[in-house]
Amino acid sequence: MRKALITGINTGIGMGLAKFLLQNGYFVIGCVRKPEYFDLLIAEFKGFKGQYSLYAFDLNSDFTDKLQEIENTQGIPEVIINNSGVFLTDSGDFEARYNNIISSLEVNLKAPMRICEYFAAKMRSLPWGRIINISSKMGSLGDNSSGGYLSYRSSKALLNLYTINLAHQMADSKIVVLTLHPGWIKTRMGGMGAPDEIGAAVERIAFALTDEASEFHGEFLVGKEKLPW
Ligand SMILES: NC(=O)c1ccc[n+]([C@@H]2O[C@H](COP(=O)([O-])OP(=O)(O)OC[C@H]3O[C@@H](n4cnc5c(N)ncnc54)[C@H](OP(=O)(O)O)[C@@H]3O)[C@@H](O)[C@H]2O)c1
Repeated sequence: MRKALITGINTGIGMGLAKFLLQNGYFVIGCVRKPEYFDLLIAEFKGFKGQYSLYAFDLNSDFTDKLQEIENTQGIPEVIINNSGVFLTDSGDFEARYNNIISSLEVNLKAPMRICEYFAAKMRSLPWGRIINISSKMGSLGDNSSGGYLSYRSSKALLNLYTINLAHQMADSKIVVLTLHPGWIKTRMGGMGAPDEIGAAVERIAFALTDEASEFHGEFLVGKEKLPW
């Protein structure tokens, strides 16, 4: 059974992805911010007992000890999905807006980097694997036609840059590295005015798990479609 480590499974796209992974026979290493979410998740994943394990830690911290615990208890995952993210509203004076960039980097860049850097080298010997960073079209420089949202845009742009670098580093392995836009989705972050349901995001992201996706190593995608950097 392939093991998939995924962050932010208590809500939104992360919960949708976790259910998809369980339904498709993966063992889910589910990461959330707080242990208070465990009861909700146990109820949501009824019917999949023994097919998942839950871990709680704040991504805005040094959680390396938790990654060691995951490795010691579950081994090396075949799939990593860095799904968690924050979208901060940029307002206030220069210092406040700059501090928003720093806070966004902690969760949207530093946490995925920490997870990738802990596991990537260890994944190299696997015959199949995926490292999937959930980014956003708002991190695209080429697609930025309206401006604004500097903290979110800059954190996702750097996540994209980090992902390309990691893809180069892993090019001689069987691990496919991708950065993905899920679409504009009805979640706490996307808001209820978003056009697409969580299922649409899950379907787009699920493409990354197919064999066909290996042709797209190092790309920035929505579904199978390449996005401008
Ligand atoms: N929804 C969209 O339209 C859209 C569009 C483009 C990209 N995305 C990306 O898709 C991903 C998922 O978004 P979503 O819409 O599902 O967002 P969401 O509903 O707001 O969920 C975000 C998840 O990230 C977790 N998280 C945030 N900060 C954390 C921290 N410090 N420690 C641990 N967990 C933390 C949240 O935990 P808590 O519940 O505890 O806060 C939650 O599980 C994000 O990376 C987002 O940038 C979303």
